[in-house]
Amino acid sequence: MQSAYDREMGLRIALLPGDGVGTEVVAEARKVIDALDLGVEWTELDWGADRWHQTGLMVPDDWEDTLRSHDACMLGACGHPSVPDHISLWKMILPIRQRLDLWANLRPVRLLPGVPTPLEGRDAKDIDMLFVRENSEGEYSGVGGRAHQGQPGEVGIEVSVFTRAGVERVVRHAFERASERRGLLTSATKSNASRYGYVLWDEVVEAVAGDFPDVTVERVLVDALAARMVRSPDSLDVVVASNLFGDILTDLAAAIQGGMGTAASANIAPGSDTPGLFEPVHGSAPDIMGQGIANPVGAVWSAVLMLEHLGQGAAASRLAGALDAVCAGGPRTRDIGGNASTAEVGDAIAAAIAS
Ligand code: NAI
Ligand code: MG
Repeated sequence: MQSAYDREMGLRIALLPGDGVGTEVVAEARKVIDALDLGVEWTELDWGADRWHQTGLMVPDDWEDTLRSHDACMLGACGHPSVPDHISLWKMILPIRQRLDLWANLRPVRLLPGVPTPLEGRDAKDIDMLFVRENSEGEYSGVGGRAHQGQPGEVGIEVSVFTRAGVERVVRHAFERASERRGLLTSATKSNASRYGYVLWDEVVEAVAGDFPDVTVERVLVDALAARMVRSPDSLDVVVASNLFGDILTDLAAAIQGGMGTAASANIAPGSDTPGLFEPVHGSAPDIMGQGIANPVGAVWSAVLMLEHLGQGAAASRLAGALDAVCAGGPRTRDIGGNASTAEVGDAIAAAIAS
């Protein structure tokens, strides 16, 4: 990723551990970045479920200024069984993505060395994709309403919003990525059953394709695409998808690459200097929180994406190399076949950086 930064000062990173295992994996991401000795200045933010219980808000009123005064934000996850999920998402993560207009959510999918995939007979050469998820509109626009609550005739309406500008910017970015990779772009659609939004989506893909003659583009219905990810992941390079489809397909992709704990993401606004938000794909995993067994690989990989985006290519490569080495040689957490703790994996990555 290219950077809007060419800084002589140290990087200022807002650290937003959030809830559940988010706090556990982000501690390891911080540890390994500190091991790179880049002089990062951290601001730790106590936003999340505890704050909601104390104040009725997940984030303080000046959250946007706080984030904008940093170079990037590293998030763990938000969500806790004691807070309704639509509150924790709509009072923190979704407003951050929307208000900062972080319209591209990049999710690389690669089978790291030593990590087992549930797809029999597949190895690292077969699993190397990049998902580009639209991150500002679509099915998660927040448009809709409810009427007659609690009555037998109650209605809930959720409106998908697709704009030409919103679709075009993310599709164009996906084409650019594809032209830097293997030159194949797959557009996830559902324009057979959804007659408006996804027909517009398809038309925009077709129009933008004219600017990228070196990229082969294909349109695939999202249900068939899910099956194809399992049957022939090697046939996919870059996938561009709407907010909802990208969300669902990348949990499937995470499973293919070894599990939820291994998947990384970057929420960015390409071409601007808006600070990006970097977070593992997984949520707060209440089923394993507090046990020290969450896999920090997705969080550490997200740190690699952050450093790349901030123009710290050499540091990003060092961290990626250390991550690969620890995945290959262990220690690993139990979800990927080991028995190490979260902190032991972070310690090993930090040690691999130093060696
Ligand atoms: P989840 O991703 O938290 O967990 C799904 C499964 O993956 C669980 O079995 C969990 O143990 C496992 N898992 C997740 N992270 C792992 C890790 N690092 N290492 C090993 N295993 C891991 O999804 P779930 O259970 O649907 O949601 C839990 C909460 O997280 C909910 O409140 C949800 O709203 C929230 N959430 C927040 C997100 C965010 O902050 N961006 C994204 C997804 C969910
Ligand atoms: Mg998700």
